[in-house]
Order: sequence, then C-alpha cells, then structure tokens
Amino acid sequence: MLEAVAEGFARERQSYYHHVRRANPHRGRAFAMAGQYETVFAATDVIRMFPTFVWKAELEAEVHKRINKSLIARLDRIRRCGPEPAPGRGWQSDHDLHEWEEFRELASCVNHAVGRVLDFLKIGAADFEITGCWANMNPPDAAHGRHGHPNNFLSGVYYARTNKGADTINFHDPRAQTAIIKPPVTALTAENTDQVVVKVSNGTMLIFPAWLAHSVDANTSGETRISISFNVMFSAYAETASKPLW
Ligand SMILES: [Fe+2]
Repeated sequence: MLEAVAEGFARERQSYYHHVRRANPHRGRAFAMAGQYETVFAATDVIRMFPTFVWKAELEAEVHKRINKSLIARLDRIRRCGPEPAPGRGWQSDHDLHEWEEFRELASCVNHAVGRVLDFLKIGAADFEITGCWANMNPPDAAHGRHGHPNNFLSGVYYARTNKGADTINFHDPRAQTAIIKPPVTALTAENTDQVVVKVSNGTMLIFPAWLAHSVDANTSGETRISISFNVMFSAYAETASKPLW
C-alpha cells in the first residue's frame, strides 16, 4: 500500500519570499478578487496530473534490528581499515554491498519493496536487479548536496541509524519551469512547494524515481547517521524493453 508522501513542504530561499510578500502592495486586491469567483461558477474542480512518488515503508522491528546488527558490524570492520572522515565530511563505502553476505537480508527487502513499487506503477513482468548498493556515514555537520542517479529506473535508501537533527531527506521539484515565476504564498502546499522534506527513522526504506533530485541537510545531531543507498534497473533492458516507441 502506498503511503502519503508529503510530510513537510518547504521552499528553497523561503526567507526571501517572506520579504517579498511583506513588500507587495497589490496582495490585498488579488485576494479580494479571488473571493468574487465563488458566485460565478456552479462547480469547480482541480484535475491533478503527472504526480511524482516516493514509496515509504517501515521494516518490522525485528527485521530492522537483525539487518542493522549484521551490516553495522561489517561496516565497522571496513572502517577500521581506513582513515576517519574529516569533521563535516561524509564517508561512502564501495558500491557492491548487495553482493555481501551481511547484506543479503537487506537486498531481499529491497527486492520485495521494488516489486511493490512496480505493481503500483502497473509495470508488468519485468526482471530487475540492484545495480549498486553502498553505505553512507554522515558525522555531525556532514551534508549531501542535490543529486540524482542516472542510468537507473529506481533509487532508494534504507536508514540504519538516525537521530533528531539527522532524520530527514529533501526531494526537489523536477519541473525546472516552475522556478521561473514564484509568487508569494500564504501557505506551503503540494501545489506550490518546490521541496518536500520527508522524515525518516531507524528502519525506514524509501524508493523513488532515479531521476528525482534529492539532498540531505547537514547533520545537526551529535551522532553519525548511517544509511544504505541503492539503485535498481531493469535487467537486459536493451534486449527486452527499449524498442523505439514511435
Ligand atoms: Fe542519492
């Protein structure tokens, strides 16, 4: 079952827009005119189209604890062999974690989750595979800039260790055109936001289109945040599904 996605609407450079709204002498007139329309139309509706999704799931507590015990032990062994990351700098593992024994159960959860997402998208029998899976360790002050994951169909994240101040991920409006005109608003909604902040916790898994730009704010907690990212692509796509669609 797909859950509601939007947990917090935000707007990039919000303080700037607050300033513009206060300085706008025409605001009152625009709102008065909007009220007159209600006497003209017998009915109104809004047709929503082309939605963007982020699939969100919480793993069962016992599954999450079992996976964490295994993967954190493995990550600790890897990290002991390398240098400590500089303060404010994140660390990423190699991209083949899905092939490790310690990550087998997590990979199985990812495969189940991707099946759910493909069902939701009404994509029929299509073989897929995890093309990459890696760990992110973000110590205090570490952030991750806006990015996407090219040459994949889906991307996702599993959260192994979060804390207050290191428990969100930002998703950015993929429609570049909407940034051209940004009038001041009285409230942030799904229709006028350009950034959605999704709150996560230990055991949360997110899956979203690989093209959907996302970012992570600086860790303001006192603990290192640990997440496992992954990418998914159709197997043998060129042979089975990439014929021209004209
Ligand atoms: Fe990412």
